[in-house]
Amino acid sequence: METKSLSRQRDFSYYINPYTNLKANESSGPLVIERGDGVFVYDEDGKEYLEGMSGLWCVSLGFSESRLIRAAEQQMKTLPYYHSFTGKVPAVTLELSERLVEMAPKPMSKVLYANSGSESNDTAVKVAWYYQNALGRPDKKKIISRLRGYHGVTITSGSLTGMDYAHKGFDLPRPHVIHAEAPHYFREALPGESEEAFTGRLADSLEHLILKENPDTIAAMIAEPVQGAGGVIIPPEKYFQAIQPILRKYQILLIADEVICPQAISLYPDC
Ligand SMILES: Cc1ncc(COP(=O)(O)O)c(C=O)c1O
Repeated sequence: METKSLSRQRDFSYYINPYTNLKANESSGPLVIERGDGVFVYDEDGKEYLEGMSGLWCVSLGFSESRLIRAAEQQMKTLPYYHSFTGKVPAVTLELSERLVEMAPKPMSKVLYANSGSESNDTAVKVAWYYQNALGRPDKKKIISRLRGYHGVTITSGSLTGMDYAHKGFDLPRPHVIHAEAPHYFREALPGESEEAFTGRLADSLEHLILKENPDTIAAMIAEPVQGAGGVIIPPEKYFQAIQPILRKYQILLIADEVICPQAISLYPDC
């Protein structure tokens, strides 16, 4: 995705591209994608690209999939918009919720919708705070995230993100977010350290962090099953088994950020 369309001279200064050098963008402009089909997208000059990242990791069914087009068209004709506030719900929302709960691993039994991954993670943090407040633990407010983690762009989800580029200049991370190490065996294991020993070291280090911060001030830890934007990092096999007893010991919830990696919940044996 490096070549930019040369055929059109445009003023790009009015458009803000997230995660982009805006100064460079003013002169060189973004790559303008016009359409997609299956695993390919096409720029405005008709040049074809294999979309290896599936958009932003989310076009699992391919571009311009006819079943999705039909479903969207049908829904736009039947009920293009409605909300779920104050005890109302669109029929189609209820139907999808039943299907999601049927598909989800037990004992998951509740669905709450959001408009993006960032909003989902902000909501998960709100729910964790609400949960701890309801149980009479109002001081539990901090959230542990991990370096190299990616959780979104809002004030809280951007704070959870464990990458400098998401923080610099934005006063992030906010004070209630603390970062633990990434389970990146390839980059961060010590010379000669086995995967098991690496996992044990990370678990010990997490417990030290919890004790240093004071467990009574920590509400939850958030983790991607596989760290995507941070480098597609698959954790050591026993990583989640190792950290869950520690979190449970200190009444710290585990938030599974499965925004780009659904159904991996089986990685968390306690759920
Ligand atoms: C693991 C993870 N969480 C959250 C997000 C944020 O999702 P969105 O871009 O829909 O806000 C992403 C985006 O790629 C992600 O990879």
